[in-house]
Amino acid sequence: MTLEFAPASDTALPLWPVWSDEDLPPEAGTWPGASGFAGKTGQICLLPDSDGGLRGALLGLGERAQAAWDRFPLARAQGLPKGDWRLAALPPGLDPDQLILGWLLGQYRFTRYKGAPVQGPRLVCPDGVDGPRLLAIAEAEFLTRDLINTPASDLGPDRLEAAARALANQIGARVEVISGTALVKQNFPLIHAVGRAAASEPRLIDIRLGDAGPMLTIVGKGVCFDTGGLNLKPGASMGLMKKDMGGAATTLGLLKMLAGTGAAAGLRIRVLIPAVENSVAGNAFRPGDVLSSRKGLSVEVNNTDAEGRLVLADAMTYAAEENPDLMISLATLTGAARVALGPDLPPLYCDDDATALALQQAGMAVGDPLWRMPFWDAYEPLIEPAIADLDNAPSGGMAGSITAALFLRRFAEGAGRYAHLDIYGWQPVAAPGRPKGGVGQGARAILAALPRLF
Ligand code: BES
Ligand code: MN
Ligand code: ZN
Repeated sequence: MTLEFAPASDTALPLWPVWSDEDLPPEAGTWPGASGFAGKTGQICLLPDSDGGLRGALLGLGERAQAAWDRFPLARAQGLPKGDWRLAALPPGLDPDQLILGWLLGQYRFTRYKGAPVQGPRLVCPDGVDGPRLLAIAEAEFLTRDLINTPASDLGPDRLEAAARALANQIGARVEVISGTALVKQNFPLIHAVGRAAASEPRLIDIRLGDAGPMLTIVGKGVCFDTGGLNLKPGASMGLMKKDMGGAATTLGLLKMLAGTGAAAGLRIRVLIPAVENSVAGNAFRPGDVLSSRKGLSVEVNNTDAEGRLVLADAMTYAAEENPDLMISLATLTGAARVALGPDLPPLYCDDDATALALQQAGMAVGDPLWRMPFWDAYEPLIEPAIADLDNAPSGGMAGSITAALFLRRFAEGAGRYAHLDIYGWQPVAAPGRPKGGVGQGARAILAALPRLF
């Protein structure tokens, strides 16, 4: 799909965004009031001209107070008739960039299996808003969504690698991939153990962009499908598990954003994606297996469904070996994160207060919220079982998102700072700017926080 702004022209129809607790624009005449328009969220009032043609429209934004948590009010304007529109006014109190980004994000459609949708309304980018930057951000987010929405039948580890290579080509980044038994030879035992039962072999995708400057390494969980392995997930929980590469998809989207907005300049960026399918076969890893990790720590597999932390552990060890200034992991890691904070507010773990604050504040400012949770040292004993150094799935399941984060932190040693986001990667019900389906979480927060991170 092509994402574009309408060219500035006099023929674009005026659109007035209006709060419900605000007077209607006088230019709109008496028709809106007479026809019951009250500025309710998403309410659209088309304005006829004297010949019965269309001369403009009003879009309700709802109550001003609600704007603090209702992201992307302009994304509700998708119901406007096809044609070119221009904002007749920028509503006071809203960030114009966020407003316009919301419009763009609301244009997303997953068309791979359905054919292209008809062209909807187009918007003229208002003066003072950096249109190309917002287009770059939205296009990168659409890559993330497309990858998550594509089922494992068309996006196994091999195809995820192809997508990563395509992106790297586009932005001039370098790629190396270690696959199959080479993972064993080059000491990535956990990535191999988790992925070896699948038809498409496990691999570690390694992308680099930039040669100088502070180093940011992003590690994304690329489990293309999570059956749970031999401790199989029940059907209802397995249904959505094509999205278990949401961390990888968000990481690739973030890389595209960094390159497309110019934010990558002056940084060394490395992306690592352990790409596997957690599948079932005679050679699958089993509950009770004790595996060694790249770092040398032994891991007792108490549940093959806690596979994300295993593949991330080896990828993070590898990343930490070259001491990046900041390492961030993005992963659809635990169901427990959803129990704690729901689908829309990913837990953020980071021991460095300034980094955590920068990420959280930037996230709030750009409609990509994160909520800080603790690497709670006192729970370390929970991930230490009897017969190995680490337990991948502490029994009892208490503080499941925290214990998963603590497990990962054991492999971050060597990185200057480490942050972890336990994302959901899925919009369960459509919301403004976010149709139902795959969604990136954390990428725009990281992009916006960047100036404060180094
Ligand atoms: N991919 C899942 C986590 C998940 C489930 C994320 C549902 C979003 C929605 C992960 O691999 C997993 O299965 N985690 C287990 C860990 C447990 C066995 C310790 C979980 O959270 O139940
Ligand atoms: Mn799992
Ligand atoms: Zn998983």
